[in-house]
Amino acid sequence: MNTNQFGEKGWKPDRIENLIGKIYVITGTTSGTGFEATRILLSKGAKVVVLNRNPKKAADTITSLKQELGNDIDVTNIQMDLSKQASVKKAAEEVLKTVPKLDALICNAAIAQVPKQTLTVDGWESQMGTNYYGNWTLQALLFPLIEKSRGRIVTVGSMGYDMGIKTIKFDDLNWDKDYTPNNAYSQSKLAQLMSMYELQDRLKEAEKTDVKAYACHPGSSRTNLINTSGSFMMKLIFNLMKLSPLTQSAEKGAYSQLMCATEPNLDQKGFYGPTGRSNWVGPVGAHKIEPHAKDKSVAKRLWELSEKETGVKWNI
Ligand SMILES: NC(=O)c1ccc[n+]([C@@H]2O[C@H](COP(=O)([O-])OP(=O)(O)OC[C@H]3O[C@@H](n4cnc5c(N)ncnc54)[C@H](OP(=O)(O)O)[C@@H]3O)[C@@H](O)[C@H]2O)c1
Repeated sequence: MNTNQFGEKGWKPDRIENLIGKIYVITGTTSGTGFEATRILLSKGAKVVVLNRNPKKAADTITSLKQELGNDIDVTNIQMDLSKQASVKKAAEEVLKTVPKLDALICNAAIAQVPKQTLTVDGWESQMGTNYYGNWTLQALLFPLIEKSRGRIVTVGSMGYDMGIKTIKFDDLNWDKDYTPNNAYSQSKLAQLMSMYELQDRLKEAEKTDVKAYACHPGSSRTNLINTSGSFMMKLIFNLMKLSPLTQSAEKGAYSQLMCATEPNLDQKGFYGPTGRSNWVGPVGAHKIEPHAKDKSVAKRLWELSEKETGVKWNI
């Protein structure tokens, strides 16, 4: 029996009628799922503000979007390096100054499988610093605008949340001991998911239910992710995997984040992504999430730690 609420083929962008008058902010759009999500949002008439670290790549991306969709599309880049708190704060300030409302903030950018322990300029393990603390600060600083707009926050996680130690290593968050690329990446993606579910609880408690928070993932998609930050061996493995039916196009990988950004009345408790084999490919919809991602005591501790580490608090 098909249990996907969007039917046998799952959620697809043709469910979006038009997005004229809507404004989205999305991170990491120079390739992969972020590029595809931006392309589809623009093709439906939305205004999209993209946040990217590399201005040349961002400009080239906008040029190719205009070549495909025409010069009338409304897309602008704000420079932001998610691995640097100062850069995230500056970008958030720029968004607050220039963007009148925010229908959804899509936190898509990430790095993965960094071969050796590397610290960000702020002193955190690079995947935790970029994928988790970067998004923490961006989301918290944009929250007032999202709240005013009755908007959404969409976190792009990963099935990797279930492939590491399945909790947060509070006694060695930087992996000074036993660093492995997979465990460190997995922890950063688990932390991203945990903070979304914790955010939902905090919004509910504060009776701020007009803001919605969603967690999703792109399955196993043919993007630049491993080529950007992975080791030679990981690149080899992933590029071979790209030839197999265990991966899907970057466009399909973008569907879950588009769904979370646009689909009306979507249940926040869900975890959204491909529902086929291993949740790597297949029709997009809600699927099972393991209990460790919703462990309340770990999530609460992580939230409090994040406030302390970043010095950034949510005004909920
Ligand atoms: N592909 C998969 O199979 C897979 C599986 C599970 C989860 N995911 C998740 O899907 C999301 C999208 O990744 P993708 O697969 O589409 O990878 P991708 O093609 O490498 O795209 C990642 C984007 O993030 C940007 N980025 C990286 N570090 C950044 C930083 N410090 N500041 C700002 N932007 C930065 C990249 O910009 P540059 O061009 O400057 O590098 C790029 O635009 C990520 O959250 C990833 O964890 C992907």
